[in-house]
Amino acid sequence: MTNILGGPGLIHGCDYNPEQWEDVPGIWDEDLRLMRLAGINGVALGIFAWSRLESADGVYDLDWMATILDRLHQTGVSVWLATPSGAKPNWLALAQPEVRRCRSDGQREAQQNRHNHCLTSPIYRRKVAAINGRLAQRFGRHPAVTLWHVSNEYSGCCHCPLCYAAFRAWLERKYGSVAAMNRAWWSRFWSHDYERFDQVTCIDQSVSGLHVDWKRFVCDQTADFMAAEVAALRPHSDRPVTTNLMGFHEELDPARMAAVCDVIGWDAYPDWHGRTRCSNNADTLRPAFGLADDALVASETAFLHDLNRGLKDGQPWLLMESSPSSINWRQVSRLKEPGVNRLAGLQALAHGADAVAYFQWRKSRGAAEAFHGAVVDHVGHEHTRVFREIAGLSQDLALLAPLAGTRVLNQAALLYDWEVRWHQDLWKHSRNADKDYPGICLQHYLPLWRRSIGCDVIGARIPFGQRRLLIAPVLYMLRPGLAERLAAFVAAGGILLCTAPCGVVDQDDLAFTGGQPGPLRALLGVWAEETDCCDDGAITLEPTAGDPLRLGTQAGGGICELLHAEDCEVLATYAGTWYAGRPALTRRKHGAGWAYYLGTRGAPALIDTLIERLAEQAGLQPVLAGLPAPVTAHRRADAVFLLNWGRNAQRVRLPEPMRDLLHPGEATTELELPAWGASVLGSGRD
Ligand code: GLA
Repeated sequence: MTNILGGPGLIHGCDYNPEQWEDVPGIWDEDLRLMRLAGINGVALGIFAWSRLESADGVYDLDWMATILDRLHQTGVSVWLATPSGAKPNWLALAQPEVRRCRSDGQREAQQNRHNHCLTSPIYRRKVAAINGRLAQRFGRHPAVTLWHVSNEYSGCCHCPLCYAAFRAWLERKYGSVAAMNRAWWSRFWSHDYERFDQVTCIDQSVSGLHVDWKRFVCDQTADFMAAEVAALRPHSDRPVTTNLMGFHEELDPARMAAVCDVIGWDAYPDWHGRTRCSNNADTLRPAFGLADDALVASETAFLHDLNRGLKDGQPWLLMESSPSSINWRQVSRLKEPGVNRLAGLQALAHGADAVAYFQWRKSRGAAEAFHGAVVDHVGHEHTRVFREIAGLSQDLALLAPLAGTRVLNQAALLYDWEVRWHQDLWKHSRNADKDYPGICLQHYLPLWRRSIGCDVIGARIPFGQRRLLIAPVLYMLRPGLAERLAAFVAAGGILLCTAPCGVVDQDDLAFTGGQPGPLRALLGVWAEETDCCDDGAITLEPTAGDPLRLGTQAGGGICELLHAEDCEVLATYAGTWYAGRPALTRRKHGAGWAYYLGTRGAPALIDTLIERLAEQAGLQPVLAGLPAPVTAHRRADAVFLLNWGRNAQRVRLPEPMRDLLHPGEATTELELPAWGASVLGSGRD
């Protein structure tokens, strides 16, 4: 019943910007009336309110915030209080140029937009600490405040002299000497040896080790900035902190931010009725799996929910933003069809969220986001479809309050290593197109998702725990110690799947010597002598005699490693090419478990069948079997969520009588899910 923030039940919330409406008499009263009606019980307050909180250097006015905080509290609405660093006020940005970012050509940006402050500037850090301290001193123990919403969507980097100086100091701490840095970066190549740290900028695209270091530095600097924000709050407030993360946003490793957060929160803007972000892959996935586009969008969203939950290994998390209807920053955005907002909200809960929140409460009248979806439209009243649907979902959340605080942990996991993508994108090789690490990982997650088998998505530092199946696509870069941990997982009885390209470079972006897949060569029992590249799906794979996994003839391609089966069983070989007969899929028994290796990018049908078989071998069961596509089932604590990702109603037969937790009544063994319908079921026994 107690949610991750220590309050009762589940949170249904939104970003609230009352400071934009102060000149409209009575509008705050109306907001509170409408919040009560909509069942909104949480808001994020003050995210972009700096200029209203501090209208000139040192001129603070926090009284309006005190008033609205008290009123929200009286209304039963809890508050995620924001620190306002995401948008810097004009008076600061114009008086202190160093707070504005420099682009990679060294040019300082004009004051504009948001999320574009220098991460290093002492002046910005001082001003942020001052306003954060003021907020915390005044409101850090306010009974309405349950969480600090620190900044907003940290992102991007700055190339100013201060940031470069900090980068060079970071390099000096990391390497100790320029000689060690040169060795790690292989900078003798093209004669780019550095003589001193102060020669380093991050312009030189030819030194790939430098680039991954720059990305790591930017992550560290962002996490350090956030930690400094939190440090300014702490003397006055012990409330938990978070910041809103952003899906596959490539540049910022969320694991670094997670270390500073007490709770994980992320902003989800799936392209409902549009396409998935992994669209290259979607073109092959759609026909291969017979899934409609929305089911693919749903699977991508599920993956990201799981990835965010994985940042704190199953701890409940917060859906901090989503749109109640459409968004305004894609070329074309569809409205969410009736039912989809509820479906998406229940999906987040099924994946372990304790909060479903929206950007935004009320549509602003002007500026950049006036026409972005909101709970309250410009028309200003509650008689809208969107408002009714939000109010309906509030009722569901109230009924599901017992789920608050419960963890979701699965017996299968997919290893998603953020830094692998950085390294792989820098890989200059015979196949430079469509590297698409997120899309490939998603493809390996889909077989479990569509069969309603729960799968965690975990970063490389999360312990594998008691899991039975671990899917590790494309470990192109292998961190120190990971091969040993994977071997221990398999030895203890786990089933591991690795896929090509694997074990190519180390964390410095240096190729492993001693043969691919580097430190995994012994565990997998293969050596990849050469790598051919071709179109996806262009190569046939034939099973070996007996076909123990019942794979049949399949397709692979993209990347085809010419493997030597050094110490493993060969399950499939390439066919119809000059390297026909060479191993393509292998497995090796190690201790009580099995390590599988696929030396090519499997076509969707191969991945689907292979992962189905590995799940069987691992003894994994679907939450519910035999569901009609596109219905999926998900377990959280004792509840089973049934989600229909399609426009047609679907009949679902249950293996035993279950109760509909959202429509209390008799237990049933059959139910009908309407278009975009969702049910949450509990045990039929009393
Ligand atoms: C982001 C931001 C919000 C808002 C929404 C619009 O997630 O955090 O402030 O701009 O996008 O979709």
